[in-house]
Amino acid sequence: MNTWNIIIEDFNKADITKHESIFSLGNGAMGMRANFEEDYTGDTLQGSYIGGVYYPDKTRVGWWKNGYPEYFAKVLNAPNWIGLHIKINGELLDLNTCLEVKNFRRQLNMKEGWYERSFTAMLPNQQEIQVKVLRFLSLRYDELGALHYEITPLTTEATIEIESYLDSGIKNSDANWDEHFWNTLEISSEDNFATILAETKKTGFKVHTFMQNQLFIDNKALNISPKENKKENYIGLQYEVKVKQNQTFCIEKYGGYSRSNDCSTLSKSIALFDSLLEKQKEDWATIWEISDIVIEGDEKAQQGIRFNIFQLNQTYSGKYAHLNIGPKGFTGEKYGGSTYWDTEAYCLPFYMATKGAEVARNLLMYRYNQLDKAIENAEKLGFTGGAALYPMVTMNGEECHNEWEITFEEIHRNGAIAFAIYNYTRYTGDESYLKDYGIEVLIAIARFWAQRVSFSEEKQKYVILGVTGPNEYENNINNNFYTNYLASWCLRYAAEQVITLQKEGITKEETQQWLHIAQNIYFPYSEKYGVYLQQDGFLDKDLKPVSAIPAGERPLNQHWSWDRILRSPYIKQADTLQGFYFFEDHFTKEELQKHYEFYEPFTVHESSLSPCVHSVLASALGKTDEAYTLYLRTARLDLDDYNKEVHEGLHITSMAGTWLSIVEGFAGMRVKDGKLHFTPRLPKHWKNLSFKVIFQEEIKEIKL
Ligand code: BGC
Repeated sequence: MNTWNIIIEDFNKADITKHESIFSLGNGAMGMRANFEEDYTGDTLQGSYIGGVYYPDKTRVGWWKNGYPEYFAKVLNAPNWIGLHIKINGELLDLNTCLEVKNFRRQLNMKEGWYERSFTAMLPNQQEIQVKVLRFLSLRYDELGALHYEITPLTTEATIEIESYLDSGIKNSDANWDEHFWNTLEISSEDNFATILAETKKTGFKVHTFMQNQLFIDNKALNISPKENKKENYIGLQYEVKVKQNQTFCIEKYGGYSRSNDCSTLSKSIALFDSLLEKQKEDWATIWEISDIVIEGDEKAQQGIRFNIFQLNQTYSGKYAHLNIGPKGFTGEKYGGSTYWDTEAYCLPFYMATKGAEVARNLLMYRYNQLDKAIENAEKLGFTGGAALYPMVTMNGEECHNEWEITFEEIHRNGAIAFAIYNYTRYTGDESYLKDYGIEVLIAIARFWAQRVSFSEEKQKYVILGVTGPNEYENNINNNFYTNYLASWCLRYAAEQVITLQKEGITKEETQQWLHIAQNIYFPYSEKYGVYLQQDGFLDKDLKPVSAIPAGERPLNQHWSWDRILRSPYIKQADTLQGFYFFEDHFTKEELQKHYEFYEPFTVHESSLSPCVHSVLASALGKTDEAYTLYLRTARLDLDDYNKEVHEGLHITSMAGTWLSIVEGFAGMRVKDGKLHFTPRLPKHWKNLSFKVIFQEEIKEIKL
């Protein structure tokens, strides 16, 4: 256990894809899985991604229904720039075919932002070599990454043939139609520099993938001209060197992606490995200066939170308003690198408190800039008059997810987007976003809710039918408490803001109607249990707690049929309790306790977004031991692979939830009347907890 590093010393072929996720690197503009530079014929998920470069993969569904989105936007697996084909005395280095691999070690240095891998391998030709590779993606230069790859022959002197290459013939493993998404336009090289210009099909993103190589023996630079190996979608620069036994050969490779033509200048002018690494350390030190959380007395918890903070910073730098935070960041293909409600519901507070109001505002502007598309999206579904339904999953504002129960039914995302505007204004004290932009978003969202409710003659209340709440283990339900509550809140909040800001162009009748609906929305309630019900009919289920499910059947989504899951009372993630989390001050402590104690026993936490919310609520209820167990589950979800899916990529957005479970959970931070308040409830064995937050433009240092 090392609180600034993730170290894994084990070469287990079954774990390669898992560790490729854990050791992923990113700099906010691009990112990559921890694939090996050299050939590897074993199981691997190759992945290198560029922020905002996506492809609209044509939807594939069994039976088409009106309103389905035409495509699912995918973050693209981008051309490979790290690749090295290495031969030692004519034998290809491939850890899958080596006779023996010893001392295999991976280290992610989170403090300084680099990743190192080392091993000793016996090749099939009985040549033993030692390899050490250090790699990082520069925070200073968005387009640049660097790697330093050392090979030491241990058996005899050796001829090392090395082909350093770029490859644009890559694919996405989740392509719906097995298509290639890139067209290669130009390939060129000059001395030790090469570049491939490729363009994405349909979306037309042009990207120069480049590399610059420099070779050394025992730290002395070699001056060898490479032989070019140009093929379709590929360029390799070949070198051959003779290396004595125990002498160290090294190739330094700089590369990355550039959207402009200046990549050659970039890699040549900055390419000095040590100084680039120094800058990397400085830039990470600046990030940690504000965002580190120090826990004394608990190394597991400490390492967990640092890993989460590190990954959040690798994913989103806040520099660009067109980028957002994909649930898997740059660590895998799943979730397509797109934007979900995760950003508003989970991530905003972290970036707001550690990067400041401007970055948080960028996240809000992202939705404002997509308002027209959200209105179009609602129109496609039959809504009118400027009503907006933001997409559940998007790259450019268009809906691009194609499961009807999510696309059409998980309308609660509209509420989270409105809540984020409120949350931002409450925390930063900056009213100008609301006034200049947010109000438009609120109006369009309120118009949606006002049309999406229906009036039940039977109940004499407004109901919301046919939805999916955050708990995706229920579909097409009526009166999901969370959705109804959010809708009611949105309508009221929007009406109040329109009135306060004296917004023109909205009639009094319209705001009165919003307020009328808000006051008359139906919430399913059980007198017997004294709780709001997750949805109509929840009590008809076979209400056995999660503890009654045999351990071998968990996670349910990997063992039960979907049908069985839907009929069960098991809750994938915080749903009713998500409402209690957002609107804690609308309920009494007793109400919170009743709801927590009612719902937690049915919650399987099979979404990464779940344990963090329960942890914050458990802390508020003084259930600190339970909060701590849930904290470890969120903080170490990927490191300890709780949900057995880390090979697909890391759960980036829930990492912001981990931060919440410390800052709002154990430290009990709340904003009330424009001031920060703390109610600390630390786990017993934590000696100290300290962190910083940027609050209303000041850095506050908290020591508990
Ligand atoms: C969760 C959603 C979430 C998505 C992306 C799903 O498993 O149920 O709430 O938006 O993952 O993180």
